[in-house]
Amino acid sequence: MKIVIIGSGYVGLVAGACFAETGNEVVCVDNNEAKIERLRKGIMPIYEPGLDVLVKTNLAAGRLSFTQDLSEAVRDADAAFIAVGTPPRATDGHADMKYVYAVARSLAEKATGDLVVVNKSTVPVGTGDEVERILRAAGRDIRFSVVSNPEFLREGVAINDFMRPDRIVIGSEDEWAREIISRIYDAGAFEGVPILQTSRRSAELLKYAANAFLAMKITFINEIADLCEAVGGDVRDVAHGIGLDSRIGEKFLNAGPGYGGSCFPKDTLAISKTARDYRVQLRTVETVIQVNEHRKRAMALRVVDACNGNVRGKTIAVLGLAFKADTDDMRDSPAIPVIQALQDFGAIVRAYDPEAMDNARAILGNVEYVNDPYDVANGADAVVVLTEWSAFRDLNLQKLRSRVRLPLLVDLRNIYDEEAVTEAGFEYWCIGRKNTGAPILSQSLAAE
Ligand code: UDX
Repeated sequence: MKIVIIGSGYVGLVAGACFAETGNEVVCVDNNEAKIERLRKGIMPIYEPGLDVLVKTNLAAGRLSFTQDLSEAVRDADAAFIAVGTPPRATDGHADMKYVYAVARSLAEKATGDLVVVNKSTVPVGTGDEVERILRAAGRDIRFSVVSNPEFLREGVAINDFMRPDRIVIGSEDEWAREIISRIYDAGAFEGVPILQTSRRSAELLKYAANAFLAMKITFINEIADLCEAVGGDVRDVAHGIGLDSRIGEKFLNAGPGYGGSCFPKDTLAISKTARDYRVQLRTVETVIQVNEHRKRAMALRVVDACNGNVRGKTIAVLGLAFKADTDDMRDSPAIPVIQALQDFGAIVRAYDPEAMDNARAILGNVEYVNDPYDVANGADAVVVLTEWSAFRDLNLQKLRSRVRLPLLVDLRNIYDEEAVTEAGFEYWCIGRKNTGAPILSQSLAAE
């Protein structure tokens, strides 16, 4: 099948490379000239394990190409996937659909024959109807059909999530479009993957509901972690124990500094706004948003507690800036409010991240960036882990201890074993477990 993918961000690029890998002819379109030039040379705009190899192989095989020219790309295409951004509007938090609709208008004008238009971006319920209206309004003698085919990929494991998804959702109102999309997802490559056919609106809603549920699951375990600290439990055991119930499931029960990233914060906000527009209140989701917002800054108070109630003039070494491991993405990273709060309390912040420092510089200008996880700790009054990079798990804690001024380790990702940390001579503050340092208040109470 010949397909065009408009928008070469995370979703577009991964989908493009994977669809090419599974035998389709794929043209990726983006209006950023520099990005397209670099992609043609196999240089990735983002850090995503495995993506560069996949792009280079498929470029070389002639199945994948990059262009700025939508007219050329869409010629004789069977389907066009819209994978442009839907950022929250600064004014009201609603997903801003202007990029999606602009693409729809271009497609309406430039399509050369019957075309299935697929929304791959996470879009509010009803977007498919609006895209269809735009396509029809052009009055062309062409058959258009609009499909919602949401993407569930996680940064860092995006290729695997795309190639081996838990399910493929095809939300469509017509048989012809369903047939085209089913052929794009080659039966051989996606063997055994459940394909869920739904109405377009159900597919649109399903994506938001999935992300809201996962955000709720994380927020729930974060609150249970607070309770574990208060009553003397271990959140890892509690999470494991409840997760073994197949109705709950073990994944996404790692307590931490609050969820971040380009999806959960944006999508929880968007679904709650949409609900209100339809006179429905999603109270659970609204509460999740509030609790998570509050948690990120409250995490800074743990560091303050560990530093005996005062960080003024103290040097805090931060390990990890990205919103999670295996990405350079800083969007809505919990590291941002935590670091800003520490600076507000008078701390001097130094940081190291294996991949995200370039992106972090643009957001957190007054942080000293250090290119080595040990050097960042030189003379520090506390070390704070904010991202669960596996390289941090493998650090030589004795060596780290030899660099710091005060041996305080605040692990907001629970990556260390307390015995190893205390053996190395650190006092250890972590999440939802016994802390070896001075007893601290649960973060929720401390923040009030
Ligand atoms: C998410 C969804 O998982 C994916 O299906 C959707 O398509 C896009 O949004 P992503 O944002 O890449 O993917 O990251 P994810 O791995 O889901 O993590 C999101 C946030 O939750 C991160 O800040 C992460 O650190 C946090 N998290 C995740 C936890 O705090 N605990 C967990 O157990 C899992």
